[in-house]
Amino acid sequence: MLKIADLTFNSPFILAPLAGYSDLPFRLLCKRYGAGYCVSEMISCHGLTYRQKKTSEMLLSTSEEQPVSFQLFGADPDIMADAAEIITTYGPDMIDINMGCPVKKVTKRGAGAALMSTPELAKQILEKVIAKTSVPVTVKIRSGSQSGQINAVSFAQMAEQMGAAAITVHGRTWKQGFTGLADRNIITEVKQAVSVPVIGNGDILSYSEGLDMMIETGCDGVMIGRGALGNPWVFSKKGKPNDLEAVLEGARQHLELIEQFLPVERMLGYIKNHISRYFKGFPGSSKIRQNIFSCGTVDELKNTVLRVNH
Ligand SMILES: Cc1cc2nc3c(=O)[nH]c(=O)nc-3n(C[C@H](O)[C@H](O)[C@H](O)COP(=O)(O)O)c2cc1C
Repeated sequence: MLKIADLTFNSPFILAPLAGYSDLPFRLLCKRYGAGYCVSEMISCHGLTYRQKKTSEMLLSTSEEQPVSFQLFGADPDIMADAAEIITTYGPDMIDINMGCPVKKVTKRGAGAALMSTPELAKQILEKVIAKTSVPVTVKIRSGSQSGQINAVSFAQMAEQMGAAAITVHGRTWKQGFTGLADRNIITEVKQAVSVPVIGNGDILSYSEGLDMMIETGCDGVMIGRGALGNPWVFSKKGKPNDLEAVLEGARQHLELIEQFLPVERMLGYIKNHISRYFKGFPGSSKIRQNIFSCGTVDELKNTVLRVNH
């Protein structure tokens, strides 16, 4: 059973932080379908300390999704620490620090995956963040900054020494972005080098692939990102149903949760993106997706989804 600090989880399968996707409705859905816990979208330490409204809205949570992890990103140790203190008042069960995002907007300021090449700075961030929060702090890293500079093992050892409660390893370098295949060997090496839980990440598209990764690498849990989009069933043994009606039920539940928690009329494009993913691979899916994208209002979208099978 996956255990991080004093927390135990019903499943070792975890929803990855996904900017633009892993908000409260999607996290709740994935939790209902079996995720052990879910990680929020990355939250800017600057946005938090400036008390930006949009950033604070990202901290929306409910008890149904507990345990939940909120992910912070930034590169200034003091601001990261202040942000961790603020985030803690919102009651997450864990705080994750993003040391793996390759997006330019993030790395140009030294945050995300850029921290793989500045382990001293990452160390200071961990030290200061951990001192300012009472909840377990985890880190999400990559294999290194580029081939020839694979430092996940020493980086993970540093994180453990500083008090990180778990380490997620995405088996790609910063330079690789999302290209190529995730390297599982680096996950094995990190697992062998630290005694805190190690969570493997990269390219897992089904529950059974996740189990394979655990057997192959010895990792304690598996984080799933892209494989969960339009497919919260990835967190259950049976996987995505072949039956369109059952898939529709998932899409409708997702829509209901979105309506419950988000200002839907402002988010039509976002909703279409999420919902259209459910139908990938089904006969007639391109027509269904076309119908979804042509909707002008949320009500129209709901009616389209209701009519899909009729
Ligand atoms: C659209 C998108 C958004 C992402 N946002 C974040 C993020 O906010 N924080 C983070 O640490 N990683 C982020 N990632 C990386 C994922 O968490 C994950 O490490 C990566 O997608 C590999 O896992 P996968 O193959 O299961 O998708 C993002 C990835 C994608 C595709």
